[in-house]
Amino acid sequence: MEPAGVAERLHGKTVLITGATGFIAKLLVEKILRLQPRVKRLYLLVRAPDQVSAKERVRSVIMQLQIFLSLREKYQNHFTSWFWDKIFPVAGEVSLNNLGIGNVDLAEDIVKETNIIIHMAAAVNFRER
Ligand SMILES: NC(=O)c1ccc[n+]([C@@H]2O[C@H](COP(=O)([O-])OP(=O)(O)OC[C@H]3O[C@@H](n4cnc5c(N)ncnc54)[C@H](OP(=O)(O)O)[C@@H]3O)[C@@H](O)[C@H]2O)c1
Repeated sequence: MEPAGVAERLHGKTVLITGATGFIAKLLVEKILRLQPRVKRLYLLVRAPDQVSAKERVRSVIMQLQIFLSLREKYQNHFTSWFWDKIFPVAGEVSLNNLGIGNVDLAEDIVKETNIIIHMAAAVNFRER
């Protein structure tokens, strides 16, 4: 039996991605949505004081990127609703307990639903303590 490809394995799956606003993860988010539009959900952990700010960061730092042009063309007027149907921003901080997710119910939902974790949060300078 042929092993399933990466895109095939993501069908119907829920993925938690840390460091989602980073250079590599932004490209990854677009690529997952483009190659496997039937991924169930991407939880994007981003540094933000609350859920509203996390959503605004995802909107301005990820969703507005030129790389989403082909998905915008594919989904036309439905792109925005399709995007938010797939993307669930989560305010967090990986150095804290429970990834700094303050909402206990949301944290439990993430634990229950997540099939795959892609950990991209990183300090890529050498000045951090
Ligand atoms: N760039 C490359 O060419 C390359 C090549 C090979 C491997 N890598 C590796 O890929 C990983 C990501 O690299 P990158 O270039 O994408 O880095 P990057 O652009 O600096 O992104 C780092 C991400 O991590 C987040 N982050 C940092 N500390 C965090 C914390 N305490 N809690 C939550 N999120 C935190 C940042 O959030 P904020 O937006 O809030 O700062 C940002 O989203 C690194 O491990 C790097 O070594 C990168």
